[in-house]
Amino acid sequence: MTDVRQADSVVARLFASELGGHEQVVLCQDRASGLRAVIALHSTALGPALGGTRFHAYATEDEAVEDALNLARGMSYKNALAGLDHGGGKAVIIGDPDTLKSERLLLAYGRFVASLGGRYYTACDVGTYVADMDVVARECQWTTGRSPEQGGAGDSSVLTAFGVFQGMRASAQARWGEPTLRGRRVGVAGVGKVGHILVEHLLADGAEVLVTDVRADAVERVRARYPQVTAVADTETLITSNLDVYAPCALGGALNDATVPVLTASIVCGAANNQLAHPGVEKDLADRHVLYAPDYVVNSGGVIQVADEIHGFDFERAKGKAAKIFDTTLNIFARAEADGVPPAVAADRLAEARMAEALEARTATRR
Ligand SMILES: NC(=O)c1ccc[n+]([C@@H]2O[C@H](COP(=O)([O-])OP(=O)(O)OC[C@H]3O[C@@H](n4cnc5c(N)ncnc54)[C@H](O)[C@@H]3O)[C@@H](O)[C@H]2O)c1
Repeated sequence: MTDVRQADSVVARLFASELGGHEQVVLCQDRASGLRAVIALHSTALGPALGGTRFHAYATEDEAVEDALNLARGMSYKNALAGLDHGGGKAVIIGDPDTLKSERLLLAYGRFVASLGGRYYTACDVGTYVADMDVVARECQWTTGRSPEQGGAGDSSVLTAFGVFQGMRASAQARWGEPTLRGRRVGVAGVGKVGHILVEHLLADGAEVLVTDVRADAVERVRARYPQVTAVADTETLITSNLDVYAPCALGGALNDATVPVLTASIVCGAANNQLAHPGVEKDLADRHVLYAPDYVVNSGGVIQVADEIHGFDFERAKGKAAKIFDTTLNIFARAEADGVPPAVAADRLAEARMAEALEARTATRR
């Protein structure tokens, strides 16, 4: 048996509070359908954990557990700063969704989530879609991110893009004194579900927009709708194109040792998760006087939408909550300035303070 005191074991890391201190981790197996899943609950300090289900062909089981732990922790912070009464949780299903996903497997997964009795609400993530959540919901009442036909809110990209736009307006206010992108040159890398809607907001606000995407059809779709948009060959060209704002809306790790030194933009604000490739990049950005709007703060429109769905989806109510991303982003910049730290650090501190307050209040009630 693995020695749990071993510093590099997953279990040891699980119990090490300075590295996360998760409340509960559930390993799920259903041999009949081939389901192997990990459900990680990082914190329920603010309420039942909420976070999506990632379906991915992990190289090892340890990698899957590690991913679930990191993603769940990230959701605690995202939900806290989105003002939601939800803690952080996430699930991963191990395997290639193209070959392994089946109705039977999703139903089995739903039964495992249901066995947690409401401590965890699940939703979509990479590899799972609203149609999958409709199936999971047949076995589990704690499912959100369902289709409108099944009483859900559907695709979350609309409010995610709206929220990113609010974060960008707040960044403009902090940097240039006005909450508008009018006359600014904004580069969007990745014009998929979120990126193409962001382009629409930017154009309506009077920005000059440049885009890039590895998929030619994604670029063509944007150019067909908005011929005034300039398409550039790749992300490297985009970030060196005299931008005012860079919006990473593709994959994680966009801000790294190769890209940060050549950024022309003085604001980075985009939808992509985990934009900082490694710890320390937030400081490199600050050293170059690039204002970074923390990704998990500005891209929380999607989770705001799925949280709203739990109470019977109301688009205008959810949009109202997503609009608050503007104030939250400004508040983070102010706190960063006051504490002399990068915005990413200030955001973490604010999220931790909200969780600590909730825990304190809970303990006080029990006294
Ligand atoms: N959809 C949501 O509600 C939501 C919520 C929060 C965060 N996010 C994050 O926002 C990002 C975009 O999400 P999405 O739903 O629009 O995904 P998507 O898959 O619809 O779009 C991503 C786009 O990026 C492009 N792309 C991939 N690699 C690229 C590269 N190296 N250079 C340029 N383009 C590249 C893809 O071709 C695709 O068009 C992801 O990181 C996602 O995790 C999405």
